[in-house]
Amino acid sequence: MSKGKLWGGRFHYDTDNAVERFTASEHFDRRLARYDIAGSIAHARMLAVCGVLTRSESDAIIEGLHAIAVEIEEGRFQWSAGLEDVHMNIEARLTELIGEAGKKLHTARSRNDQVATDMRLFVCDAIDRLRAGITGLQSALVEVADTYADAIMPGFTHLQTAQPVTCGHHMLAWVEMLERDWQRMGDCRTRADVLPLGSAALAGTSFDIDRQMTADELGFTALSRNSLDAVSDRDFIIEFASALAILAVHFSRMAEEMVLWASEPFGFVDLGDAFCTGSSIMPQKKNPDVAELVRGKTGRVVGHLVALLVLMKGQPLAYNRDNQEDKEPVFDGLDTALACLDVLTPMVRQMEFDEDKMRQAAQRGHATATDLADYLVRKGLPFRDAHQVVGRSVTAAETAGVDLAELPLQALQEFCEHIDKDVFDVLALDGSVAARDHPGGTAPARVRSAVNEARERLAQR
Ligand code: ARG
Repeated sequence: MSKGKLWGGRFHYDTDNAVERFTASEHFDRRLARYDIAGSIAHARMLAVCGVLTRSESDAIIEGLHAIAVEIEEGRFQWSAGLEDVHMNIEARLTELIGEAGKKLHTARSRNDQVATDMRLFVCDAIDRLRAGITGLQSALVEVADTYADAIMPGFTHLQTAQPVTCGHHMLAWVEMLERDWQRMGDCRTRADVLPLGSAALAGTSFDIDRQMTADELGFTALSRNSLDAVSDRDFIIEFASALAILAVHFSRMAEEMVLWASEPFGFVDLGDAFCTGSSIMPQKKNPDVAELVRGKTGRVVGHLVALLVLMKGQPLAYNRDNQEDKEPVFDGLDTALACLDVLTPMVRQMEFDEDKMRQAAQRGHATATDLADYLVRKGLPFRDAHQVVGRSVTAAETAGVDLAELPLQALQEFCEHIDKDVFDVLALDGSVAARDHPGGTAPARVRSAVNEARERLAQR
């Protein structure tokens, strides 16, 4: 018999050393220990109620598992690569601690339904942590939006000045992106929240077990409906990785705007000394490294999604060892997202916008050209004709080296006789943003009410 292996019965020879290293996962899946122990406790308790284990066997198992949990927490647990993974490390230690009864824990289950259960518990927990973090970042953004509800900045399309917007409105755009992430995580959680235990290796178990009891004990809402699917399904992990990737893409887009806005040519925002670093050669530099790293870390999170998709693509039913590779991408994706939240939230909270710089920038680039066109439409011109008139006015302004809003009235009237001196109300930045006063619009009044709605929504979580 292969020595030391819990599955060694049918083997004549020991595992090759390289194979032992190659197949071991305990160095990373030990992170699942608390979920593994919770799952085993629920399983043992259920087996006793169903008469598969005696009460005293189950009690001994549960007590032993609690002791192991303490050993792990205190860093006293002896992990062994020879025991492959978290499951067998814990089971072997249990038998060491309590003797014969420990060997009975694995009745009516397999590592296949066990690891699927652990991962589902892990993902549900991870989502709860992430959603709390996302809410925290949203709250920070909502407060910034309130502070800068009527600060005008250029809104861009193609990174060219398009129309003036309020800075508060821009902050609330980020809040909306994160709102979808928060929801997406919740959607993903409903599909992760399913108990696989009881599926055993792939076909179910011949013991008369009570799966509902195990589910209730572990807090699962539903039971898996097909044992083959339950041990092999990793959709919930792919979905989680996908939700993480979209979240990371959102972080990256925010970070990119911070980098742009903090740059010398923009000068819109001061990111704060605590969130920037200096250059080892250029003494004048204050670099937005934190935002850049957030942007950069998106690469690995997106990579994890691709890794998981490829991991699953060729797998026949049911469980295959390939699935051991699902863990590191999930762990790293979660850690990366949480780390980004940890720096983004305080960084956002102390962003200081330069309202003068932003206004000056919005004044360049003929940002109120669309307002002039809308004005002409209200005077009776079809929009296409109005567009032409404004286009010619912009050319005139460019030739004169001024902004559209700075052209004298007579110059504008040369392009259209309907233009009156009230045109300057619409060409002014404040008039432009105030006019966009509808749900979802950039008017300061709308930003203020959106801030209040967002505050209420976030407070209810
Ligand atoms: N360490 C394995 C994993 O992560 C546990 C399941 C092993 N099952 C098996 N039949 N070899 O997937």
